[in-house]
Amino acid sequence: MKNLLELRDIRVRFRTKGFLKALLDRGKEPFIEAVCSASMSIGQGETFALVGESGAGKTTLARSILGLVTPDQGSIAFKGKPLVRLNEKAFKPIKRDIAMMFQDPVGCLSPRLSVLSIVTEPFKIHGISLPDAKKEAIRLLDLVNLPASFLKSYPYQLSGGQARRVGVARALALNPKLIIADEPTAGLDVSVQGEILNLMYRLQQELGISFLVITHNLSVVRHTSDHMAIMYLGRFVETGPTDEIFKNPRHPYTQILLTSSPEPDPDAPKTRTILQGEIPSLINRPPGCEFNTRCPMAEDRCRSESPSLRRIGENHYISCFLEEQLKEQVHG
Ligand SMILES: Nc1ncnc2c1ncn2[C@@H]1O[C@H](COP(=O)(O)OP(=O)(O)O)[C@@H](O)[C@H]1O
Ligand code: SF4
Ligand SMILES: [Mg+2]
Repeated sequence: MKNLLELRDIRVRFRTKGFLKALLDRGKEPFIEAVCSASMSIGQGETFALVGESGAGKTTLARSILGLVTPDQGSIAFKGKPLVRLNEKAFKPIKRDIAMMFQDPVGCLSPRLSVLSIVTEPFKIHGISLPDAKKEAIRLLDLVNLPASFLKSYPYQLSGGQARRVGVARALALNPKLIIADEPTAGLDVSVQGEILNLMYRLQQELGISFLVITHNLSVVRHTSDHMAIMYLGRFVETGPTDEIFKNPRHPYTQILLTSSPEPDPDAPKTRTILQGEIPSLINRPPGCEFNTRCPMAEDRCRSESPSLRRIGENHYISCFLEEQLKEQVHG
């Protein structure tokens, strides 16, 4: 089997107004497209990073994998099995293989449950009886380097890093093949961020787990992922191998994100560009290339025509007209 997870042309829309209002506002679609035509795949033991500003559609794309939102177009296959519109009964065993690590584990962890209950809850949810819940919980805490003495703790007694570890232990309960980590280091001190990343890296090496990591933090992307995609207004504007994108970012948006990151590539051009302007609203997408309102390279054409995602290298794709021009110059 080539890929553990494969997404093809996923589109997720959310309704923004009622049927009558939509009829009255003829011409205006009653939907926003939170994710447009996203395709990606993750192999076993690989990490894929999704990057983009807030509202880019990252969480929505991740939720579509778990069936928490239903794409109205496209396909998702996990271990070759199609997931979109799978009924709950058929989805349940798959959910054992895909675990979610939440953005805010303290908020998501039930405040009245002890760590023992929190890390063993997935067994309950899946109706799996444990001969010795305490022993299993100790094994899970050990995987994330927490001592057994934490079993009796409650979420409010944990530090940010400890809570994150408990979240990871819980995600590991059912031996998942894939962990979806939504902003795994958000809100943590830099030193604790490093600890959590090392933990994820170790789990990947030791247990062969694949990760889908969602993050604003480019040093997380750089240090953890094999492949990445940069999302803007629900679309992938550049996607490819992480090393290659960091060495040779080609889309103007990627270039700006990477040069404004605190840890740019030492070999990358030193010009620093700050992202100008506001992210456009999904209700009023700019015509043409949707990045044109903020793009320092925008030309007339960019305001009326939209570039498609084109392959520019091994697994490396971008959607920008500049690439076509470069090719024309080289070949012409
Ligand atoms: N359940 C929902 N109903 C309506 N709109 C939603 C819903 N979930 C997300 N959105 C909208 O979809 C867009 C993408 O959101 P999200 O996937 O959370 O972005 P990100 O995780 O990149 O910050 C945003 O405009 C958000 O407001
Ligand atoms: S197509 Fe034009 S506006 Fe869009 S990213 Fe490329 S240069 Fe910028
Ligand atoms: Mg999000």
